[in-house]
Amino acid sequence: MTFLAPPGRAQAKAYGTLSNICPLCGFPIPTFHLLPLLPLSTLADHVAHGFAQTPKTLSSKYFYDAAGSRLFQQIMALPEYYPTRTELGIFQAQGAAIVRALRAGTAAGQPLAVVELGAGDGLKTKLLLRELLAQPAAAFTYVPVDISPSALDELVASLRQELPALPTEPLAAEYSEALATLAERPEAKAVLFLGSNIGNFPPADQQEFLRSLAAPLTAADRLLVGFDLRKDPRRIRAAYDDAQGVTAEFNLNLLRRFNAELDADFDPAHWQHYPDYDPSTGAMRSWLVSRRAQTVRIGALGQAFEFAAWEAIHTENSFKFTLPQIAALADAVGLRVVEVFQDAAGDFADVVLARA
Ligand code: AVJ
Repeated sequence: MTFLAPPGRAQAKAYGTLSNICPLCGFPIPTFHLLPLLPLSTLADHVAHGFAQTPKTLSSKYFYDAAGSRLFQQIMALPEYYPTRTELGIFQAQGAAIVRALRAGTAAGQPLAVVELGAGDGLKTKLLLRELLAQPAAAFTYVPVDISPSALDELVASLRQELPALPTEPLAAEYSEALATLAERPEAKAVLFLGSNIGNFPPADQQEFLRSLAAPLTAADRLLVGFDLRKDPRRIRAAYDDAQGVTAEFNLNLLRRFNAELDADFDPAHWQHYPDYDPSTGAMRSWLVSRRAQTVRIGALGQAFEFAAWEAIHTENSFKFTLPQIAALADAVGLRVVEVFQDAAGDFADVVLARA
């Protein structure tokens, strides 16, 4: 019996126009291939694998290049996009109590690391940081982690201006690297995962991610997780389909990024932003819909992709939650709900969690 050796990377490129070939191991997708066993290290690998799925799927983490991070800042200020200002309101009204809950497990005088995943522009977090600075407890260090180096630079510059006394150790990295940092730091920890970023994960991944977040924590450490709650489905959908079209630009920016970084030839005019919300599951999803049958070349992959008229690429999940669902999620991953902070209308919840 003979085994076919996989063609090398260079060869795979040459084969690329024939069919869907894994760019790393060279085998056709979706038969045997190595890439899922390895970290999806590059944008090109990600796109090759995402476009081999049905429906074609991309990770929303690639929204956040410099332009995408700026567009997201515009989204947060939109009249339709309620989550940011609702969470900000929770912190304004209950920030002192939230900070007390985050410190409750730690002994007086014990240094604290406040690690924030997906810190972005830190607008909401600054409220909590001010509360922490105002309390007479021991020193703490703020560790903002964000996938966008430009967003992080802006955050650090604004912190230097507004909170010059705050020790800050920024980390431009993905969540997985932040987890390693959590395991290494000697201080007590408060881990912030705000803005309903957790909704980007489908339910099975929400569990897995929270479990990995909880693993390096001690019983004294706390997690603060922001959850966007279920509400009038029309309000939810409108938050992702604003009248000014900023969210559409945010979604289409993904294609512009591929053009710039992967030598692709997407024409954004031939694509349409389409959000849909399923009130029975809380799945808020965003799609890029091909307005016509078209072929797009991606130079970095040496490959062309066919899109049928009205074929949709899934580009984002923004799951919405119920309080019982949050409790069940915590329970499933060995966490307990310490305290729930909500706005008066019950639109959003900031939940303090600890190891069960
Ligand atoms: C930053 C992931 C919380 O899903 O609501 C906003 C991103 N996408 N509008 C969200 C987003 C479209 C946002 N998160």
